[in-house]
Amino acid sequence: MLSLLNIITSVCALAATAAAVNPIVVKEQEFSDSVTNSRFVIIGIDYQPGGQGAYGTNSGDPLSNGTTCLRDAALMQQLGVNTIRCYNVDPTLNHDECVSIFNSVGIYILVDVNAPVPGLSIDRADPSSSYTTSYLQHIFTVVEAFKSYPNTLGFFAGNEIINDVPTGQANPPYIRAVQRDLKNYIAAHAPRTIPVGYSAADVREVLQDTWAYLQCNNANGGNDTSRSDFFGLNSYSWCGNQSSFTISGYNTLVETFSNTTIPVFFSEYGCNNPVPRAFDEVLAIYGPQMTTLSGGLVYEFTQEASDFGLVQTYSNGTAQLLGDYDTLMSQYNKVNVTLLESSNSTATSLQPPQCNSNLISNDGFSTDFNIPNPPSGAEQLISSGVSNAPTGSIVSVTRTSVQMAVYATNGGQVSGLKIQPASTANRPGQNGSGLSTGAAASATASSGTGSSSAGGNATGSASGSASGSSSASSTGAAASASASSGAYKIGAVGFAGGAVVVGAAAFAL
Ligand SMILES: *[C@@H]1O[C@H](CO)[C@@H](O)[C@H](O)[C@H]1NC(C)=O
Ligand SMILES: *[C@@H]1O[C@H](CO)[C@@H](O)[C@H](O)[C@H]1NC(C)=O
Ligand SMILES: *[C@@H]1O[C@H](CO)[C@@H](O)[C@H](O)[C@H]1NC(C)=O
Ligand SMILES: *[C@@H]1O[C@H](CO)[C@@H](O)[C@H](O)[C@H]1NC(C)=O
Ligand SMILES: *[C@@H]1O[C@H](CO)[C@@H](O)[C@H](O)[C@H]1NC(C)=O
Ligand SMILES: *[C@@H]1O[C@H](CO)[C@@H](O)[C@H](O)[C@H]1NC(C)=O
Ligand SMILES: *[C@@H]1O[C@H](CO)[C@@H](O)[C@H](O)[C@H]1NC(C)=O
Ligand SMILES: *[C@@H]1O[C@H](CO)[C@@H](O)[C@H](O)[C@H]1NC(C)=O
Ligand SMILES: *[C@@H]1O[C@H](CO)[C@@H](O)[C@H](O)[C@H]1NC(C)=O
Repeated sequence: MLSLLNIITSVCALAATAAAVNPIVVKEQEFSDSVTNSRFVIIGIDYQPGGQGAYGTNSGDPLSNGTTCLRDAALMQQLGVNTIRCYNVDPTLNHDECVSIFNSVGIYILVDVNAPVPGLSIDRADPSSSYTTSYLQHIFTVVEAFKSYPNTLGFFAGNEIINDVPTGQANPPYIRAVQRDLKNYIAAHAPRTIPVGYSAADVREVLQDTWAYLQCNNANGGNDTSRSDFFGLNSYSWCGNQSSFTISGYNTLVETFSNTTIPVFFSEYGCNNPVPRAFDEVLAIYGPQMTTLSGGLVYEFTQEASDFGLVQTYSNGTAQLLGDYDTLMSQYNKVNVTLLESSNSTATSLQPPQCNSNLISNDGFSTDFNIPNPPSGAEQLISSGVSNAPTGSIVSVTRTSVQMAVYATNGGQVSGLKIQPASTANRPGQNGSGLSTGAAASATASSGTGSSSAGGNATGSASGSASGSSSASSTGAAASASASSGAYKIGAVGFAGGAVVVGAAAFAL
């Protein structure tokens, strides 16, 4: 009997670890699941534990510690995200366990190929001298590290290189040059096409020009490999619960990008002034007015000095959920997933305009579509490949239970936190085993995962209360601050059920 049980268990485990998401492809305006052909809209989080300064400090990178990745993947699966963006990865480290964990829970990864170190990114003040073969060698090594994972969604060739009108003069041709080199490298050495794009600063004077410059077709009947495959926008224009679709200027963005022939999404959003955040923009971004865009990524998962975090983590591995985590989850739970997965055949059959100076409106912005040739030695590097570059691959995920202590916003310890295997993109309001703590455990167990009503009344009211009272306690001092409201939120986190809310109130701290 026992051994039969063991066999069944291990067969299940095997089935679980074999699960992998389908690669995503670009279909003009939309991302699309390459197997099901459903539209893919990014419900994402920027993931940069340790902040930008963590690069090169020998403390690993965000995707090199499987234990912390397991904790964070479990929390993100509950939250409902389907994509993370990782800045500053170190291509010499092993990312297999982390990427396999994220893959197993239906979470894709957008990888920045640059690092915030001289020589490992384009210098916006002097692009020509920083566009070197040794720079290309670094970014191709990043491609080697991530090219074999099915959940690599794309590579950012650059982030905010253009951040005002003057930097819009010399840089645009170099951004296209780097994209071309990456795409040629991927075509020669990766098992599939992986999208390559750019992440723009929200500087409205140059935003439309940047997008128009990067998305147009620059080929004379040939193959335009310097074109962006997607366009990310780092935008913090929706601030507080008094903002709106028009006050934030989201309406202008929708108009600007209405004819886009590549996916456009927020590569960062989530204004944190005022706090706590209400995340009302989530309902706009994923609502019927903004279907032109392909979603976005909230800045950011871990609490860092800049105070945008959803989760406070400690070096001993302990994590404390912050109020914004609960608020964001309750907003995600109201999203209409059916709408997001519906493809628009007009949007997927648009043709890019031919590159031409008349696409550019700001006088100071480049109209030069002569893309610099690769630096000496680069073509050889592209054809032969980076020698001895470590290449990642998916491994079996054997650990599923989070061993580190995680505390909910009311201070109670979350019990039974684990990842749940999935073979499709993660979605909000699905598969929540709930973040049960202490006395809440039994109540939540009985309310079960059938929370198809998530997004209904209870979650909505919880989010109001969450944003009203507790998240100022951002640095982990949540315990006392949230005693009055935190318990209330627990029920709402995983479940819409009002009964849980009442039950949970019992375990005030
Ligand atoms: C264009 O180039 C890309 C990347 O080099 C390649 O995958 C694709 O097949 C080419 N398309 C055509 C029509 O030549
Ligand atoms: C979008 O493209 C169509 C067809 O090319 C054109 O008629 C329309 O004016 C464009 N709209 C915008 C907002 O650029
Ligand atoms: C981890 O560190 C935090 C912050 O110093 C502390 O509050 C917590 O008790 C520690 N957890 C464990 C399990 O030691
Ligand atoms: C992973 O992170 C945890 C928590 O910060 C730490 O205790 C552990 O030593 C790390 N593991 C490795 C292999 O670096
Ligand atoms: C969700 O979106 C689908 C597709 O657009 C639509 O038919 C449905 O009515 C929407 N549901 C809600 C609750 O708005
Ligand atoms: C489909 O896409 C086209 C082009 O972007 C747009 O004009 C149209 O409004 C979209 N239709 C729906 C139902 O969103
Ligand atoms: C949710 O769970 C079901 C069955 O437990 C599984 O088939 C599905 O892939 C999971 N979906 C997600 C998004 O986790
Ligand atoms: C939502 O909750 C309020 C207060 O409990 C109640 O009056 C209202 O009828 C509920 N609405 C729905 C749609 O359930
Ligand atoms: C709006 O946000 C402010 C703080 O920024 C808060 O005091 C107020 O209660 C919020 N209102 C609602 C309806 O959530």
